[in-house]
Amino acid sequence: MDHDHVREVDPKVADALESEVDRQRSTLQMIASENHASRAVIDAQGSALTNKYAEGYPGSRYYGGCEYADEVEELAIDRAKELFGAEHVNVQPHAGTQANQAVYFAMLEPGDKILSLDLNHGGHLSHGHPANFTGQLYEVEQYEVDPETGYIDYDGLAEHAAEFEPDIIVSGYSAYPREIEWERIQTVADDVDALHLADIAHITGLVAAGVHPSPVGVADFVTGSTHKTIRSGRGGIVMTSEEFADDIDSAVFPGGQGGPLMHNVAGKAVGFKEALEPEFEEYAAQTVANAEALGESLSDHGFSLVSGGTDNHLVLADLRESHPDTSGGDAEDALEEAGIVLNANTVPGETRSPFDPSGIRAGTPALTTRGFDEDDCRTVGDLIARVVDAPEDESVIAEVRDEVRRLCDENSLYE
Ligand SMILES: Cc1ncc(COP(=O)(O)O)c(C=O)c1O
Repeated sequence: MDHDHVREVDPKVADALESEVDRQRSTLQMIASENHASRAVIDAQGSALTNKYAEGYPGSRYYGGCEYADEVEELAIDRAKELFGAEHVNVQPHAGTQANQAVYFAMLEPGDKILSLDLNHGGHLSHGHPANFTGQLYEVEQYEVDPETGYIDYDGLAEHAAEFEPDIIVSGYSAYPREIEWERIQTVADDVDALHLADIAHITGLVAAGVHPSPVGVADFVTGSTHKTIRSGRGGIVMTSEEFADDIDSAVFPGGQGGPLMHNVAGKAVGFKEALEPEFEEYAAQTVANAEALGESLSDHGFSLVSGGTDNHLVLADLRESHPDTSGGDAEDALEEAGIVLNANTVPGETRSPFDPSGIRAGTPALTTRGFDEDDCRTVGDLIARVVDAPEDESVIAEVRDEVRRLCDENSLYE
């Protein structure tokens, strides 16, 4: 992957870009929201469409010269409709957060009520955290996972909703390893006359491939990021029914955004085409099988997994019992030194700080893209355990680093 044109102008940035490619090639990317987009998606995102202003929607733009922008956006929309079976799709949100913002802006007034999952239990900042605009503009209460099982406490959610009477219930999570029961949440929303936003940011690819049940046609709104498990261009997406189509479109533009990032929309179109191929279904199924294998391996090494395992692309380990003297941050740092990049994460019942929480979250989307199978992921579990068992032992870290290099060489990337 060369950056010759950048190098001619700016060798410092070219060096950083090349170092980043090397970093991704030679280390294990296990941040659950990350993936390795194809060269086709990367080329589309690095295209001349970055120059184009296309405010508005296909066939109805505020500027001339939009014929190719229209073509690309229509392809992205049609492919997303086919992938998800959605009636209406908006592919312009700059990110998953902006997709959520569009739904809130379209449907809520300041002071309206949001009921969403607590951040420490797997929720997301854009679901009502005080540091996010949602926590400042709306009245927010939060539901939790069952402390015994780690699964969403659906009965608790129903009771909470009956008491709080929210205007919108948000489902879909950042650090929740289990299948989400959309219909159950929809019933709760119907019972209290609330809207339902299902945010599939993390599992967009799993839903598209049919390896996780879909909330499309169940929830009123489905939002997502387009660069995580679905591995397409970077950004967000909103799906809804014809009933809310105009509200959502005006909330994205001009409500919350200016000109769409048309180069990213092109990346979405290309990535969605890839996701319509039968191989993508295999990829998504392998991602889940790999996460299961990783989880089994970590459990065998004594790690305590929130909910006891996984149904999707990620595992969340609570280190408090198995490694009481090691915080999530300590583990993250030592693992990064060994070439395994994942993130410290809060866990249900968190007792440390959000800046240095008690858990680690590990995902398999990027490893699976570069060809890892269940055996490889069991080996990765062994390596993670070796490092977290001895986070200050430089010789262990050096040995694991060598093993990581071997795994990376066997599963090459961007050759
Ligand atoms: C559930 C959920 N929603 C929204 C987002 C935000 O996505 P983005 O980074 O595309 O804004 C994330 C990010 O990980 C997420 O996990």
